[in-house]
Amino acid sequence: MSLVLDEHREYLSDEARLSAFRRAIEEVVKPGDVVVDLGSGTGILGLLALRSGAARVYALDNGGLTQLEREIFAANGFADRVVCVKGLSTRINLPELADVVVSDQIGRFGFEAGAVQYFADARRRLLKPSARMTPLRIDLCVAPVEAASLAGEIDFWRQSPQGFDFAPAHSIAINTGHPTSYQPHQILSEPSIIASIDLTRDCAPVLSGKAACNVRRRATLHGIGGWFAALLSPSVTMTNSPLSGKKIGRRAVFFPLHPALAVEPDDCVQIAMKIVPEEKLVSWRAAIFDKNGRQRARFVHSTFLGMLFCPEDLQKARPDFVPKLTKWGEARRTVVDLCDGRRNVAEIEREVYERHRNLFASPAEAAVFVVEVMVPYAYEDRNI
Ligand SMILES: C[S@@+](CC[C@H](N)C(=O)[O-])C[C@H]1O[C@@H](n2cnc3c(N)ncnc32)[C@H](O)[C@@H]1O
Repeated sequence: MSLVLDEHREYLSDEARLSAFRRAIEEVVKPGDVVVDLGSGTGILGLLALRSGAARVYALDNGGLTQLEREIFAANGFADRVVCVKGLSTRINLPELADVVVSDQIGRFGFEAGAVQYFADARRRLLKPSARMTPLRIDLCVAPVEAASLAGEIDFWRQSPQGFDFAPAHSIAINTGHPTSYQPHQILSEPSIIASIDLTRDCAPVLSGKAACNVRRRATLHGIGGWFAALLSPSVTMTNSPLSGKKIGRRAVFFPLHPALAVEPDDCVQIAMKIVPEEKLVSWRAAIFDKNGRQRARFVHSTFLGMLFCPEDLQKARPDFVPKLTKWGEARRTVVDLCDGRRNVAEIEREVYERHRNLFASPAEAAVFVVEVMVPYAYEDRNI
C-alpha cells in the first residue's frame, strides 16, 4: 500500500505537472460539464475539474485507491458530484455521455501508458461527439544522447558477476527502453518530433517517423533519448524534456545504440522509429553520417528483441495449439461456473474446496483462490 501511496504522493508533489493540468482544466472544463477522469488515482484531475465548475465527475481507476478517492472527494465537499468506479476504463459503461475527458495516461515517451487506446475507446463509448479532451495531442521527441553511466549499467551484463556468464541478458538490455533523467549537456543535438499522436481522432496502429539530428559537440553517442511534449489544452503544454525549464518531474527514456560511437560536431544521426502503441513495441534504427555524408555506423534495435519470451508460452499461443486445462485451470472454471447469481461466496468457497481438495492445504487457501478469481469479474446489480 505504501508503494502505491508513495507513487501518488510523487504525482501530487510535481508542481509543474499539476500547474499545467490546472491551467488546462480551467481552460477546457465549463460550468455544468460532465467529466470523465480516466485513470483518476487520488482524484486530483477530477478535483480540479470540479473546482472549474464540473457538474459531475466519473472517476475511473483500475488500481486499489477507489475507496480512498471517495473519501478524498468527500473531504473536499464533492461527494455528491462524483461517481468513483473501480475498473479499467475500457470495461466500464457510464449512464451518460461526458463533455470532457481528463487524463495523464501519457507515460515517459508519450504513448506507453495507453493514451491512444484509452482515448479511442472513450471517444467511441463514453464521450459526446463534441467532447473536449485533455490532452489533445502528444508529440514524441528524440535526440541523440551521451549517457555513460546508463551504458555502463547495460554493460554490467557482460562483466561476468561471480565469474558466471550473463551475456544473454545483454541483448535484452540493449533492446529495451530504460527510464532515466538527463542533464541538458547529455543531449547532443536539437530534439526532433519523431511522431505525433492526435488524441481527438483515431490513430494509425503503427506510428513511424524519421529525424535527422546534427551533433553539436564531440561526444560518445550511447543512444537515443525519448520524451514527450503534450498539448493539454489549446494554450497549455506539458513536457518532461530535459531541455525545458518548466519540465515536469517524470523521467525520460534511453534507447541504447550499441556499441557506443565517438561522434564529432556536424555528424548527422539519422533516426527512424516505429511504434506499435497497442503492443508497446518500439523499433529504433540509427545511421550516423560524417559531415562529408559518409556513413560511419548503423544500428538496429527493437523492444521485440528485448522481450523476456518464454518459448513454452509462445507455443501455447500458436493457432494450431489445442489447449487442455490444468488442475488449476479446472479449479478456476469451477469458480466461474459457480458464480451463477444464486450461490453466495461462502457456498462457492466450500464447494471449490470440496471439489479440488488436492490443490488446497486448507479451506482458507481455497477461499483466497476463490476471491482472487471471482472479484475482477463479479458484479452486484447497480447503475454502472
Ligand atoms: C499516472 S497515474 C495518474 C493518477 C491521477 N490522474 C493523477 O493525475 O495524479 C495513472 C492512474 O491510472 C490508472 N489507470 C491506468 N490506465 C487506466 C485505465 N485504462 N482505466 C482506469 N484506470 C487506469 C492507474 O491505476 C493509476 O492509478
